[in-house]
Amino acid sequence: MFSTDFAQYDSVSSKEFKDSVWAVLEVTGKPNVADFFPILKPFDLQGLVRRENVYGKKILTIFDRIIDQRLQTRLSSSVTPTNNDVLDLLLNLSLKDEPKLTQNDMRHLFYTLFIAGTDTTSSTLEWAIDELIHNPEKLQTARSEIIKLMENNKKNIQEQDICQLPYLQAVIKETLRLHPPDPFLVPHQAIHDVEIHGFMVPKNVQILCNVWAMGRDPKVWSHPKEFMPERFLEVKIDYNGQDFELIPFGAGRRMCPGLNMAQRICIAFDGGILVVCRVGVALRIIKGVKWWQMTGEVVVAFGGDVMGEVLLAVGGDV
Ligand code: HEM
Repeated sequence: MFSTDFAQYDSVSSKEFKDSVWAVLEVTGKPNVADFFPILKPFDLQGLVRRENVYGKKILTIFDRIIDQRLQTRLSSSVTPTNNDVLDLLLNLSLKDEPKLTQNDMRHLFYTLFIAGTDTTSSTLEWAIDELIHNPEKLQTARSEIIKLMENNKKNIQEQDICQLPYLQAVIKETLRLHPPDPFLVPHQAIHDVEIHGFMVPKNVQILCNVWAMGRDPKVWSHPKEFMPERFLEVKIDYNGQDFELIPFGAGRRMCPGLNMAQRICIAFDGGILVVCRVGVALRIIKGVKWWQMTGEVVVAFGGDVMGEVLLAVGGDV
């Protein structure tokens, strides 16, 4: 997003950033008693709003620092330096004659993207690997599919090749069916009275959509508790908001705008992990290293040899 590597856990600033993002995710994920008894809202009894403000401010300050640094670099250079990243694009927009985007807009946009995009993606990756480890023959099928594609493409797999990995795509769908990262989606509110299948939903009521239960409904899915990616090879069900039995990204105008990016990240990372790990080794990483750390390490590992070091560090045998 702004060409900064937040994956190195030894760097103080990236550690501060990760810890703050983690803290915000933790407080926003906790049930808040004030959501059920709105009269308690001003008291913030669990201190959730206060904590989110503290860590939220830390994250915004880090974004400010990054934006200021980039502006400085631009000012000190005669040619407009470009990193070709999201920050560059936004700065170009904001420096136009009639700017529609302020620095405040930018840092809040980054905030939303990081909070909405990190934990959702990493938990999907984590569950996918977890399910595959518990189903070795499915892991082998996924792995063989990637290795075959690598052989056909002379080891060079690009993003556009993802469509040639139907089994891995099915693995991600099945993972999101069983373990949606937002089990109730994001709360919505009815703007007027509406009747759905005989149920009256009154105006202003808060609506939580239980996609976790929908994904395990025996009336819709056969063997709902089993991890069976094959089911998606047989039927054409997608998570793009058209098939209501599978809506981990929501549906309609407010559905997740990061769907395509999330799909690419999940397939690319899971594919990468499957190619460089053996089953037993993967099990050891999951047990030995917190996923949050591991996600960072895998970013580096994908392009080089670092995976070997990571595995050795936790007792693997690459
Ligand atoms: C597996 C990964 C992901 C899942 C399951 C997921 C799921 C969701 C869901 C359920 C919503 C709420 C939809 C609704 O209101 O009904 C949402 C909103 C959102 N997501 Fe994602 N998401 C994922 C990844 C990402 C990524 C990678 C990004 C961006 C980098 C992202 C950015 C957003 C944003 C900005 C919103 C708020 C949209 C709005 O309020 O209009 N998400 N996501």
